[in-house]
Amino acid sequence: MCVCDDDKDRKIATLRKRLSREVRAREQAEQLLESKALELFQVNQNLLGSIQKAKNRSARVNAIMNSIKDSVVATNQKMEILDVNKSCVGMWGIPYAGLMGRSVLEFVENRQIADYEALCLSASADEQDEIKEFNFRTLDGGFVPAEVKISTFQHDDERFLLHLIRNVSNKKRLQKEREAMQEELANAAKWEAVGQLAGGIAHEINTPAQYIGDNLHFLSECNEEILEILNKALELKKACEQNGQYLDYVQEIDRLIEAYDLEYLCEEVPQALKQSAQGIAQVSHIVRAMKNFSHPGTEEKKPFDINAAIDTTLTVSRNEWKNIATVVTDFDEHVGLVPCIPGGMNQVFLNIIVNAAHAIDVKGHETMGEIRIVTRKLADQVEIVISDTGCGMPPEVVKNIFNPFFTTKEVGRGTGQGLAIVNDIIVQKHKGTIKVATKEGKGTSFIIRIPCK
Ligand SMILES: Nc1ncnc2c1ncn2[C@@H]1O[C@H](COP(=O)(O)OP(=O)(O)OP(=O)(O)O)[C@@H](O)[C@H]1O
Ligand SMILES: [Mg+2]
Repeated sequence: MCVCDDDKDRKIATLRKRLSREVRAREQAEQLLESKALELFQVNQNLLGSIQKAKNRSARVNAIMNSIKDSVVATNQKMEILDVNKSCVGMWGIPYAGLMGRSVLEFVENRQIADYEALCLSASADEQDEIKEFNFRTLDGGFVPAEVKISTFQHDDERFLLHLIRNVSNKKRLQKEREAMQEELANAAKWEAVGQLAGGIAHEINTPAQYIGDNLHFLSECNEEILEILNKALELKKACEQNGQYLDYVQEIDRLIEAYDLEYLCEEVPQALKQSAQGIAQVSHIVRAMKNFSHPGTEEKKPFDINAAIDTTLTVSRNEWKNIATVVTDFDEHVGLVPCIPGGMNQVFLNIIVNAAHAIDVKGHETMGEIRIVTRKLADQVEIVISDTGCGMPPEVVKNIFNPFFTTKEVGRGTGQGLAIVNDIIVQKHKGTIKVATKEGKGTSFIIRIPCK
């Protein structure tokens, strides 16, 4: 064996050692890689789990926020909107994206902006919890009243405001309705008491008025007879005078005739009796009308004389219209008896007649106005048209007249309930119809139709 073979063997041995070292190192590296990959896989799995959990949590928080009936708005300190819930989108009528970045103050009624800022400041300063009411603009140009509570929260070293906005328009409407109902009940009780009192007084006046009327009639008849006797006595006095008989008596009679002014008495006494009889007849008419009117309204329909009821109502309400309008009636005698709730129908006529008088009054007093009431028998209905030459109504008034508590009159003159009650009585209680035709400055007509059966 030569030297070069030895050398060669050594080199091969060295190479083999290196190779086996490298193979081991590679095997170790592969094992390490495998274990790291496993670790990474597990970390990744955990991460995916966490992301899923975070997503679920976020979806749950969203669902919770969107299920809140109140509006929730998150803003930064500059009051710029960062997030809102679904109720808020509904309340303001603006899509979610359209709200982002806008100032919450844009939605507050102008005159309340300073107060709203003050509430935000006090919330930022963590002062006591306050709930205040503000009006918020809506897309249709209106406002909704809402109670606002503001709190703060911290996120990423920044402070934010959370505005909790509760729409209270329903609550307010219910409260208003409750108050109105109470007022209506109180009014109804008051009117019932006044009605009963008026009915009682009318009843008390009725009997003496009747015998005053009867006595005046009797006195008128007696007076005519006394005048007849007096005329004969005067003829006798004249005959005595001419024949020169009983001249003492004749002189005494002449003196009395002059002292008491017989001519005047003969003229005035019958006049006075006639006027008194007319006056007491008027009193009796009014008393009868009051009795009819204050009669506790039965809720049941019964045959009802519409023409007579309008007449009665005109008498009762005379004070309202006598100085501002003349009343013209044109009654169809074929109207006959119609099934109605008497108290309700009386109220309908009274409300419309009083409104007509007010409308004429509003227009001015230069000339007397006119209230015209026409009744007509139609095929299976009765039509009642009550027209006035009053101020008429602009469209924005017309569309509201049947709404409860709508009035254009000053406090004390109108409560805005009249036509709401009229509408209820005609449409709900009598299954009839009521329409209005009006021209500003010219007048108004209410056209009522009631079924005959
Ligand atoms: N004949 C009319 N002419 C002009 N406007 C009328 C007439 N009738 C009603 N109105 C208008 O409709 C409104 C509502 O009438 P409604 O009778 O319901 O209430 P009111 O008369 O104001 O009060 P209330 O009848 O309760 O005392 C009135 O305020 C008035 O503006
Ligand atoms: Mg009225």
